Amino acid sequence: MNFQINKMAGATLGSLLAVMGLGIFSDVLYAPEPMTKPGYALPAAEAASAAVAKAAAPVVPFAQLLAKADPKAGQADAKPCATCHNFDKGGAAKIGPPLYGVVGRPKGSVAGFNYSDGMKGKGGNWTFDDLDKFIADPKSYVSGTKMTFAGEKDDAKRADIVDYLRTLSDSPEPLPK
Ligand code: HEC
Repeated sequence: MNFQINKMAGATLGSLLAVMGLGIFSDVLYAPEPMTKPGYALPAAEAASAAVAKAAAPVVPFAQLLAKADPKAGQADAKPCATCHNFDKGGAAKIGPPLYGVVGRPKGSVAGFNYSDGMKGKGGNWTFDDLDKFIADPKSYVSGTKMTFAGEKDDAKRADIVDYLRTLSDSPEPLPK
């Protein structure tokens, strides 16, 4: 009799332990993400981090970089673009649309080229600043873009490339002041 009670108690204890173990195990599996930030940004903290970002990377306006840019260097730096883009006047599309006359041209406007929906819906003409942003990081400038190019992260090189694109025209757009 005693022996049977012990057995029952043992079984109960055993399954209790198992349930507790499961609980701990699933806590580990489904641990909620620890909060790294408060739910809302405090204005003071935001201002402080903006100030830090400014101090870390002084942003030179693109117009200033363009003023110092070298289209010859840009032509050399645009070599990787030529895999997908034709730079010649009247040039045909390759993987990407032809780029002769792209500065000032409406975005996504080469007839017959099958642009991404993001590019088709972007709107406006290609300004120097917009070209700068797109070439720096195509995916974040045009969501769902078909241009599978990681982006040129070097500000000065990008200015050289955009200055080179500017020369691909019968009457190049004046540089911004
Ligand atoms: C792997 C191929 C590829 C490379 C490399 C590439 N592009 Fe593109 N590019 C494309 C494609 C595809 C599109 C069309 C994007 C869309 O529809 O979203 C495009 C679109 C563009 C446009 C918009 C043209 C228009 O008619 O609106 C510009 C400007 C451009 N590329 C510049 C560049 C420059 C400058 C480089 C080099 C720094 C470059 N691309 C490298 C494939 C490429």
